Amino acid sequence: MERKRVKELLHTDEQFAGIKIQGWVRSKRESKTFSFLEVNDGSCLKNLQVIADETIETYEALKDVNTGASVEIEGDLVESPGKGQKWELKATSVKMVGYADPETYPLQKKRHTDEFLRQISHLRPRSNKYSAIFRLRSEASFAVHQFFREIGFFYVHTPIVTGSDCEGAGQMFRVTTMEDTTKPAAEDFFGKAAYLTVSGQLNVENYACSLGNVYTFGPTFRAENSNTPRHAAEFWMIEPEVAFADIHDNMSLAEDFVKYLIQFLMDNCREDLELFFNFVDKGLEEKLKHVLASDFARIEYREAIKILEASGEKFEYPVSFGVDMQTEHERYLAEQYFKKPVFVYNYPKTIKPFYMRQNDDGETVAAMDLLLPHVGELVGGSQREDRLDVLEAAIEKMGLDMEEYWWYAELRKYGSVPHSGFGLGFERFLMFVTGVSNIRDVIPFARTPKNLDF
Ligand code: 4AD
Ligand code: MG
Repeated sequence: MERKRVKELLHTDEQFAGIKIQGWVRSKRESKTFSFLEVNDGSCLKNLQVIADETIETYEALKDVNTGASVEIEGDLVESPGKGQKWELKATSVKMVGYADPETYPLQKKRHTDEFLRQISHLRPRSNKYSAIFRLRSEASFAVHQFFREIGFFYVHTPIVTGSDCEGAGQMFRVTTMEDTTKPAAEDFFGKAAYLTVSGQLNVENYACSLGNVYTFGPTFRAENSNTPRHAAEFWMIEPEVAFADIHDNMSLAEDFVKYLIQFLMDNCREDLELFFNFVDKGLEEKLKHVLASDFARIEYREAIKILEASGEKFEYPVSFGVDMQTEHERYLAEQYFKKPVFVYNYPKTIKPFYMRQNDDGETVAAMDLLLPHVGELVGGSQREDRLDVLEAAIEKMGLDMEEYWWYAELRKYGSVPHSGFGLGFERFLMFVTGVSNIRDVIPFARTPKNLDF
């Protein structure tokens, strides 16, 4: 008997006879002579209603079926006389595949807090909200590849294990096979110190300077000890890199990309998104439409600081030229002042990594951040320093080891080109489109300080 997914059955016009579904029971109602089951198989938000009459031979099997149990049900798809659904499955045979103890199964009908569900990260994708998040996450990943493929970019798999610190911020996890980490790194597996990458950028730049337009999309790791709702120790980042592109081209690409992803989800994932429109943030749909309809603002860092200074807001962290903006500043600019996404660019060089292209003013670099209402910084990028002497001086000035970056520097030696790229935090994007306020809730198994369960 052919297995059908619930999604297909709910959207069909055909009265299928003799089919099979497999899934998990969300609820069971019994009357004297028949039972109703709500079965969800993960293919979509909605459940398929199953009606089983006591006259079917396998009816007894339903006795032990409770919320959470897995079942296999054969039957015919018939028009439902009840309200709320077009179709239901009239069972001809029911089978319990796996029992779920009603005394201990944690996902009973009542609504749970996000905090509680985090403690059962292994089961939360069986709830409506989390199944929707993770289907959206999957669709958004697909949209990332489709966007770049449509505009002729190639996908590069940059390494996870690295010997160099891209961001130069020293927030890296060490990778080692040594029990005794006080031994010299020369004795370690790679013959030198190795780390989990904080960004694929340095490697992907090499490919931009050969394949032209590229991107990488993979996990990145940061050992920053900040327990915020916006930071994870392991997160996914999308990093395009474009040869012959300056900082303005870079901002245009980021704007197109963000809009494409939102539009893709609006067009293809309506049912899952509606859960967030209805239950997480009533204004969310309007916010997303507003982003799609706006031209993102672009403002130099210098101007942004003036706006913040003149705002009359009482910020926890004071602002002046030279400070790194905090989330409160970023959100003020995006939410209160511009009321739309805003690019801030040309940051002071003292607060940015070595690889950013230095501007002629001697004070700033061609960096850009995209700030969004609700999440703050979504994208960070720059035009890259393409002049060998300037790059070498910057590496030295920041106290980094030139020997680790010789291969990166050589791009500037042989056919150097102006090039630019950025990193978009995939979880931050998902937070924005769902209105979910904690990064731990948009990644299947969150890795944060003092938390490595699951
Ligand atoms: O601004 P970041 O640090 O930029 C880079 O890593 C560049 N090398 C990217 C590039 O130019 N190719 O990080 C980029 C984005 C941030 O804007 C943010 O959205 C996200 O990555 N991000 C984090 N997301 C979750 N948890 C963290 N700890 C994050 N750190 C950065
Ligand atoms: Mg940044």
